Amino acid sequence: MLQKNKKSLQLSELERDAMRAAGRFNGQLMDYIRPFVKEGVTTLEIDRLVHDYTLAHKHRPATLNYMGYRHSCCTSVNDVICHGIPGKYALRYGDIVNVDITSVVDGWHGDQSETLFVGEVSREARAVVQCAFDCLHLAIGAIRPGCRVADIGETILSEATRRGFSVVREYVGHGLGRQFHQDPSIFHFPNHEGRQERLLPGTCFTIEPMINVGSRFTVLDVADGWTVRTRDGKLSAQFEHTILMTEYGPEVLTTTCHGPNPGHSF
Ligand code: MF3
Ligand code: CO
Ligand code: CO
Repeated sequence: MLQKNKKSLQLSELERDAMRAAGRFNGQLMDYIRPFVKEGVTTLEIDRLVHDYTLAHKHRPATLNYMGYRHSCCTSVNDVICHGIPGKYALRYGDIVNVDITSVVDGWHGDQSETLFVGEVSREARAVVQCAFDCLHLAIGAIRPGCRVADIGETILSEATRRGFSVVREYVGHGLGRQFHQDPSIFHFPNHEGRQERLLPGTCFTIEPMINVGSRFTVLDVADGWTVRTRDGKLSAQFEHTILMTEYGPEVLTTTCHGPNPGHSF
């Protein structure tokens, strides 16, 4: 019998398969995009590639016209934490850029992001990207059916802190399914709500830690209403996967063929 959870929705086997298909497509799209992320390419060109690939496969970019957002992905460069708007900016040697892609496949969402290097990057950039990647995979390794959401935040906050980095609090992971953003909120730090909420089998959600080199504080760009930057101007990195909690443990739905696997050294 399906248990009732205060906030999250438990999916049936059929619905889980629909989410698996959405995650699989989104992962393929990430594999397609990765090689285009190079010095000299504008973030708008990346957006166009995401848009065209998605439509060519008869799917829909979830961010396009989402709450007034006009693009098919987010491209967050260097001190941009998340929700960077694709534009004229041409990627420069030494940049780090997070490409966050969400697609809708038959009404179901797949959401993931990777932080990519443009050429060789600084030691600091490499370290913060490694930290965000490891935090995501440590958190996936730490969860079990029925565990607390706070198990994720405890894992991420302690690892980031141990490496001398900070964890963004204002933006969090989320449940997803037919909706882009739904309960439960997936905090990347331990808090009261996360200690109450449990991840029951059949729950789909993202884990998407944003890790800062300097302080955890954020500034929202008031001019565009989307771009979130570090307050101190230092670097930030992020990785995201869509995950299904099954009766046997977490299943990553947005796996890729050519992206970094757990344990990867950047
Ligand atoms: N993909 C982001 C997430 O991980 C959300 C982007 S919403 C947008 O939740 F409107 F900014 F694109
Ligand atoms: Co997300
Ligand atoms: Co995302």
